[in-house]
Amino acid sequence: MFKTIKSTSPLFIKKRVTIFLLAMAVMIFSSAAMSVQSLRGDHALDADANKVMKHKIDTVEGGIKRNFKLQPPMIPHTIDKYKITLKGNGCMKCHSEKAYKKEKAPKVGDSHYVDRDGNTLKKVSSRRYFCNQCHAPQTKDAPLVENVYEGI
Ligand code: HEC
Ligand code: HEC
Repeated sequence: MFKTIKSTSPLFIKKRVTIFLLAMAVMIFSSAAMSVQSLRGDHALDADANKVMKHKIDTVEGGIKRNFKLQPPMIPHTIDKYKITLKGNGCMKCHSEKAYKKEKAPKVGDSHYVDRDGNTLKKVSSRRYFCNQCHAPQTKDAPLVENVYEGI
């Protein structure tokens, strides 16, 4: 009975409010002291951004070894000149049925002519039209983390 009266006494409430305010003040001051780092770094907003590192595309004669059987092979050459648009596919200038022999390029896989219903088409299937959705060129950069993947 006596205890209940004490805990709601005005003096006790005052003490709790003071502790709360003190804790808030400590939090506000300590967060202001921490420096906030954005992706931009501590660059001033009106200064030029750091230059983007250029990555040299790796050209590998004979292609890049696959790590597993159904892996889309990686592209062993540069691709910046070959455009893929609604009107045309720059990759097929060398990798199509018609052109591959002359260009000494590997022909796109037969799977690339099959649509989702299993029909084999004359033209590359729209499922495989955007080549770089699956195939990517490589650079000589060292991996950011060690890779212990073993191919099957
Ligand atoms: C000027 C002709 C040409 C064009 C255009 C071209 N390639 Fe190639 N590509 C080649 C040749 C030649 C090779 C074989 C290189 C080698 O093995 O030395 C090759 C290899 C590849 C390979 C490796 C195949 C394997 O089995 O290892 C892939 C994947 C590939 N190209 C994808 C593409 C994509 C995607 C594009 C369009 C962005 C493209 N290529 C445009 C000529 C071309
Ligand atoms: C949805 C993913 C996907 C897309 C899109 C795609 N490929 Fe492939 N590609 C693969 C896979 C997976 C393989 C390996 C298995 C196979 O041949 O189907 C392959 C194999 C290849 C090969 C090697 C064929 C062989 O017999 O060794 C070439 C060359 C190639 N693709 C070129 C292309 C080109 C050019 C395009 C665009 C017109 C393209 N691919 C679009 C997934 C894709």
